[in-house]
Amino acid sequence: MRIIIEDNYEALSKKAALMVAGQILLKPNTVLGLATGSTPILMYRELVRMHKEEDLDFSEVITFNLDEYVGLDRNDKNSYYYYMFENFFNHVNIKMENIFIPNGMADNLEEECKRYERLIEEKGGIDLQILGIGKNGHIGFNEPDLKFEATTHVVKLDDETIKANSRFFNRIDEVPRFAISMGIKTIMHSRKIILLSNGEEKAEAVYKAIYGPIVPNHPASVLQLHPDVTFILDRNAAKYLS
Ligand code: F6R
Repeated sequence: MRIIIEDNYEALSKKAALMVAGQILLKPNTVLGLATGSTPILMYRELVRMHKEEDLDFSEVITFNLDEYVGLDRNDKNSYYYYMFENFFNHVNIKMENIFIPNGMADNLEEECKRYERLIEEKGGIDLQILGIGKNGHIGFNEPDLKFEATTHVVKLDDETIKANSRFFNRIDEVPRFAISMGIKTIMHSRKIILLSNGEEKAEAVYKAIYGPIVPNHPASVLQLHPDVTFILDRNAAKYLS
């Protein structure tokens, strides 16, 4: 495991974007696993800048998003589909047919999860997975105490996650209670993983992920077992690391 500590959120976002760009230069048809939420926003902005100003080419890149809410339409501004197009896909030359996001409106959610896993496999597996981390240690929407062997599945969101994500909605009761998420097993099968975290409120979750026992109660702790994982943190998120 590598731990990179940057002075601030801007610097960690630039470092993450540089790593993604390096991966794409080395393998133009890279399969990227992508996260949403507040943390990767500036990384996406930097990648868009690199595309516009430095010709970073996404024409062969394939992407799989980690998760999507159940029951939100693609056009709903809180859906992760909407987020990804708004913050990233609309501004780079990625091909529509290379973008994969779980369909939270599928009639048969179990079937949708199986289809998603099959697609990841068909595209050769994820080369580089970007992750954020929840205050409760979740990665993707793998909430505490889910089995490590889970593949893409429907999850019930924790009260803490619902509360945290309600900041994007008008009212807390508008936050969906369920989501589709890649499982821990899916994430652990990625060849490389980069976890980004900034802000003091994540410091404890980051500390437990790196130094805590490897337990389903703190899902990110499983990353200690991955052969190629890099944490990129700002000073606040790294507060408890010596
Ligand atoms: C998002 C995701 C989540 C977030 C996590 C942190 O696709 O899978 O695990 O990465 O909830 O969210 P932020 O960055 O908003 O603090």
